[in-house]
Amino acid sequence: MDVFEAIERRYSVRSYKPDPVEDEKLSRVLEAARQAPTANNQQPFRILVVHTRGREEELQRVYGRRWLTQAPLLIGFVALPGEAWRRMDGKPYGEVDAAIAMDHLVLAATALGLGTCWIAAFDPAAAREVFGLPEEAELVALTPLGYPGRGPAATSRRPLEELVRRERW
Ligand SMILES: Cc1cc2nc3c(=O)[nH]c(=O)nc-3n(C[C@H](O)[C@H](O)[C@H](O)COP(=O)(O)O)c2cc1C
Repeated sequence: MDVFEAIERRYSVRSYKPDPVEDEKLSRVLEAARQAPTANNQQPFRILVVHTRGREEELQRVYGRRWLTQAPLLIGFVALPGEAWRRMDGKPYGEVDAAIAMDHLVLAATALGLGTCWIAAFDPAAAREVFGLPEEAELVALTPLGYPGRGPAATSRRPLEELVRRERW
């Protein structure tokens, strides 16, 4: 599957089969995230890999949707703002870097037939406790990783003419 097909096939998967994810596939999606570009190549993120089996109750405290723990794996992208490149006005890019790495994983997962769903609406305090995140670490997003149970729901996108400004705003 080429990158355009993966982009077209990806959707937010909110229903998963309990089937395990092969170690080889997990390694490949993690490697795709590792290959992502980061500002000044500082790679200020870490990837949490969590097995959901037996941890359903505490994971539901982080994000209370049943489908969160249907998948065998949960992946979290954690930014380390202290290690991130900063723009001249001080804006840190660690969360941008983490998001790019996560999207690499998401597209690689799609190409391997796996489902994902970006989750930002988690409880950050519960996540800090359940995953043992240190103060300097910022969980940016989570995704289940597993085989999709249901196909895509209809979604829409703004037309390109609305999104693109040519030459000037
Ligand atoms: C940064 C970000 C955060 C998101 N957070 C959530 C979330 O917390 N829960 C959820 O169900 N979907 C979440 N989504 C998924 C979006 O709702 C979804 O991508 C959008 O509706 C388009 O649907 P599609 O992904 O199926 O194309 C998030 C997506 C992004 C990019």
